[in-house]
Order: sequence, then C-alpha cells, then structure tokens
Amino acid sequence: MKLVVATNNSHKLEEFKRILEPLGIQILSQKEAGIHIQPEENGLTFAENAWIKAKAIFKATGLPTVADDSGLCVDALGGRPGVYSARYHGEDTPYPEKMQALLDELKDVEDSRRTAQFVCAIACAWDAETKIETLGVCQGKIGYQPLGSGGFGYDPIFMVNGKSYSQLTGEEKDAISHRGLALREFYSKVKDKVEGKKE
Ligand code: IMP
Repeated sequence: MKLVVATNNSHKLEEFKRILEPLGIQILSQKEAGIHIQPEENGLTFAENAWIKAKAIFKATGLPTVADDSGLCVDALGGRPGVYSARYHGEDTPYPEKMQALLDELKDVEDSRRTAQFVCAIACAWDAETKIETLGVCQGKIGYQPLGSGGFGYDPIFMVNGKSYSQLTGEEKDAISHRGLALREFYSKVKDKVEGKKE
C-alpha cells in the first residue's frame, strides 16, 4: 500500500521512511504524490495542525495521508515556542540564529529549570471516515551551546541524558525521540488495520 507523508521536510520524511517502510508500506513524499500545496497551519495545538495537513493532502490525492506537527516546548518560557517552533524569530531565519535566540532567552536560567519537551502529534487520514492519531513526547533539557552535527532544526541544543539529539545516530534518535515514539505507536495501529484487527 501507499502512504503519503504530508511534509516537504526531507529530514522528517527520512525519519518516517526509517520507521514505517519495514511494515511494507510505500512512503510517498508530497512531491512524489504531485501535490504542491502548503496548508495554513492555523491550529492551536500540535494535533490540530497535524490533522489540517493530513486532511488537506488526503483531499488532494485520495490516498491515505499521514502528517506530523511537532515542536519544542520550553518550560521556563511557558511552553514556547511550541506550535510556533518553525516560525520562532521568523520562518526563514536560519536555525543557528533561532537556537542562539532561544539560548539568549535562557541565559539566566539555571540548569534545573532548563527542562523542555519535544512533542510530535501524528494524524492520518486513512480513508474518508477513518482518522488515526498518536502523540509522542520526549523529555530533555536545553543545553548551553549547539552540540553535534547530525539531525535538523533545534537538535543541537536539545539534550537527553547528556547528549544532544544532534550527537545521536539516526537510529539512536528514533529510539527515544518524540517522532520515534509517535511513529511506533502509529505503526502498531496501522499494522492492526493492515492485518484486519479491530482497534
Ligand atoms: P512543523 O514542520 O510545522 O511541524 O514544525 C516543526 C518545528 O519544530 C520546526 O521548527 C522543527 O525544526 C522543529 N522540530 C520538530 N521536530 C524536530 C526534531 O526532531 N528536531 C529538531 N527540530 C524539530
């Protein structure tokens, strides 16, 4: 079967492929499905935004479509940037600048209060009637400087057990990450569907 991933982010697409292709599902990017629209993410929660994207691309393709909406919630900033993570300090601002702005906001915050969560909501329009949703949360801390060279986005400043997401291999990140958690739960729900089991 074919599953469209409603994203233009090649890093996210790679993570979806790594986790879902072993199920025998053919993952298509939005581009491969011939869709070039960018739905407006005007929801107030990760789950709402994920559903906006999945629903719009499903309508355009008629194929089962999955989307994620994710972001970084920093406790000392009342959960910011949260759903606005991609737009923090301007959508087109390079990540080194966004990360520095976040580190500057936290410059007087002591270690014990630098806690943060990466959150990932997955929403899938499986068919016209069926919506599948999962949520993954990874607890960590904001570091003091960008560390490591892998990954994308805010990976270099998000620390889990003394290492940044960027210092992990792809597989190590998948094992603990917000998207890994949400996608594995999604995988098991899809497996039940593919194998014809009830929810
Ligand atoms: P979205 O594409 O609208 O879901 O925006 C997600 C935002 O959160 C972007 O700013 C990403 O850089 C950031 N983000 C989400 N997941 C990750 C991740 O795994 N690592 C680093 N940044 C992430």
